[in-house]
Amino acid sequence: KLPEKVTIYEVGPRDGLQNEKTLVPTDVKAEFVRRLVTAGLPVVEATSFVHPRWVPQLADAAELMTILGEDGRDHPVLVPNERGLDRALELGLRHVAIFGSATETFAQKNLNRGLDEQFAMFEPTVRRAREAGLDVRAYVSMCFGDPWEGAVPVEQVVSVGKRLFDLGASQLSLGDTIGVGTANQVTALVTAFTDAGMTTDQLALHFHDTYGQALANAYAGLQAGITTYDASAGGLGGCPYAKSATGNLATEDLVWLLTGLGIEHGVDLEQLVATSVWMAAQLGRPSPSAVVRAVGGT
Ligand code: HMG
Ligand code: MG
Repeated sequence: KLPEKVTIYEVGPRDGLQNEKTLVPTDVKAEFVRRLVTAGLPVVEATSFVHPRWVPQLADAAELMTILGEDGRDHPVLVPNERGLDRALELGLRHVAIFGSATETFAQKNLNRGLDEQFAMFEPTVRRAREAGLDVRAYVSMCFGDPWEGAVPVEQVVSVGKRLFDLGASQLSLGDTIGVGTANQVTALVTAFTDAGMTTDQLALHFHDTYGQALANAYAGLQAGITTYDASAGGLGGCPYAKSATGNLATEDLVWLLTGLGIEHGVDLEQLVATSVWMAAQLGRPSPSAVVRAVGGT
């Protein structure tokens, strides 16, 4: 039986833009966030408080959150460490996300830390965030395959993922960073996590569409009872530190599937498509989403 209602966790302004080479003006980013909220997206992750040299596109995180003002305080932001958390706390933000790696190589490339070492960075970050009353999400990357290490053992993903979640997170998002996973893997991974004691509402699925599998994988997630899906408007996105990572599952493609299945999601497709068409014009290239092209006539 499929869920009756799903939460779409929009990552367009963060995952969608972090890999864009040309700097997007901060007020365009603010407009993007506001339009996504207006289109009915219940959660819009806005930016990252990472090292500005590591992700230059998001170096304006503080300016963006200042422009968004009081309305922006509930937008989640990525924080890798205590320095990032301090920057978020200064602005009165209420939701942060840490992002760990299931593999040694990607931990090194993305965080400049080893697989085990990353926890020394996250532990005080989550502890202090929780003490300050913030909600914390945890991401775990490379759950379905790693461009340097190949297949990643399910036990390793579960062990790293649970350890991240147990630091004090309210949700664990399982990332297919390079979009190589297939539906059977989704079923197996969700089962492995629930066998390890996690509930389906503590889990979210985060697909990239590199190999065109994202929507099929989301369907496998629905069948497994998962009710939170990360997606990016227009299918923007990719991780600058993961070789071959392309855009996320397009929010419009997910919305189309959910509507067809009669699953409640709360998003206005027309407004969302109009937003992605507008953003594509800002970036100077068409959206890769099939639904944006069909509905938006681009
Ligand atoms: P590091 O160089 O090891 O940092 O980088 P450090 O701790 O050694 O500090 C060095 C200097 O950086 C210090 O300054 C710090 O204050 C400063 P100094 O004392 O030398 O003047 N610094 C900072 N400044 C501002 N904000 C900060 C910050 N931290 C340190 N937060 C670090 C380690 C984690 C910072 C770096 O590796 C980093 O920023 N990585 C972020 C990479 C990233 O954002 N990747 C994309 C997001 S993950 C993703 O996309 C996957 C996901 O979508 C899920 C999926 O698809 O699987 C979530
Ligand atoms: Mg991602």
